[in-house]
Amino acid sequence: MPGVPLFDTATPLEPLREQLRDAVLRVMDSGRFILGPEVEAFESEFASYCGADQAVGVANGTDAITIALRAMGVGPGDEVVVPSFTFYASVEAIPPTGATPVFCDIDPHTYCITPETVKPVLGPRTKAVVAVDLFGNVAPVAEIEALGVPVLEDAAQAAGARGRDGRPGALGTAATFSFFPSKNLGAFGDGGMITTSDAAIAEQARTLRFHGSHDKVSYEQIGYNSRLDELQAAILRVQLPHLDGWAAGRGRAGSYYEQARLGELVDLPRPTAGSEPAWHLYVVSHRQIEAVRERLDAAGIGCRAYYRTPVHLQPPMRPWRPSVDLKGTEQAAREHLAIPMSPVLTREQAEHVVAAARAGARISRATR
Ligand SMILES: Cc1ncc(COP(=O)(O)O)c(C=O)c1O
Repeated sequence: MPGVPLFDTATPLEPLREQLRDAVLRVMDSGRFILGPEVEAFESEFASYCGADQAVGVANGTDAITIALRAMGVGPGDEVVVPSFTFYASVEAIPPTGATPVFCDIDPHTYCITPETVKPVLGPRTKAVVAVDLFGNVAPVAEIEALGVPVLEDAAQAAGARGRDGRPGALGTAATFSFFPSKNLGAFGDGGMITTSDAAIAEQARTLRFHGSHDKVSYEQIGYNSRLDELQAAILRVQLPHLDGWAAGRGRAGSYYEQARLGELVDLPRPTAGSEPAWHLYVVSHRQIEAVRERLDAAGIGCRAYYRTPVHLQPPMRPWRPSVDLKGTEQAAREHLAIPMSPVLTREQAEHVVAAARAGARISRATR
């Protein structure tokens, strides 16, 4: 069998070629490219998919976090709690609001923050917590909000997942998504979304994405030029009805790995309580993960450690030193590895990955 790619974004779109082409031509013929009917329709379709009252399209998932936090009232002097084991943008989006990022730890089995990891870093200046649904798992948002602090769910990697209390996008005070092309729901360029059931937050986000203005005549605040465009919205509208099917495919791929007994070799990602993750990345861990990586590499199997250096150790984060131990973060950073995952990963491919991981393996449960 040939190698297995780390992800496959092309095959799932193959049956949608005609519809995608029609959507692009429809926008071209309409002559409306910014904030028109496609964005409006996609906002409403995406909000109802998530189970939120409103959705606000923005230019990307990073802007979505900055704008959502500002719309939630975060500003200079405030603190925002955020994990360090995440994509850099989850944290990078905080300082532009004027607030300070405060790092918290994660559960290294689910890769998500928990009430226990958030609690020690809460203080009188905490204005919000950014809970990341990392790798398509679903953070325990309701439990964290029960600590008495509003949660912004960074659901960039989790479109299509289901949590115990509903879908990502409807679990906290607000949520943000990225439609970066490799995401579970990917555009043909950059795109992002804010969802919320708080009308005031939605209204504020709409104003902020449009230069802090309602009408481009009078300006109420310093905002952004950050909009989802009509072409991307039209393309995403074609894909949205297929998201559940693709998420199910990701779940199936995870069970193929389990059935091929990958869990005998490495630790498998653990869904949070009651959740059905939509594995954006399938991330395993092991104390000797480099040995696993070398074996997969040699067999032509796509694999990658995404966050070997956690965000708090990246040079621009120097001003914001963690105030607590980040043991789970350090462990995950050291030991994680993403292996092939896509909605169309087959049982044979999963078995091939597991066979390659097992081949000549001197690692075993005993050494983990
Ligand atoms: C967890 C997380 N947050 C935020 C982002 C930022 O999204 P974007 O690349 O659309 O700005 C991404 C993805 O890139 C992400 O994975």
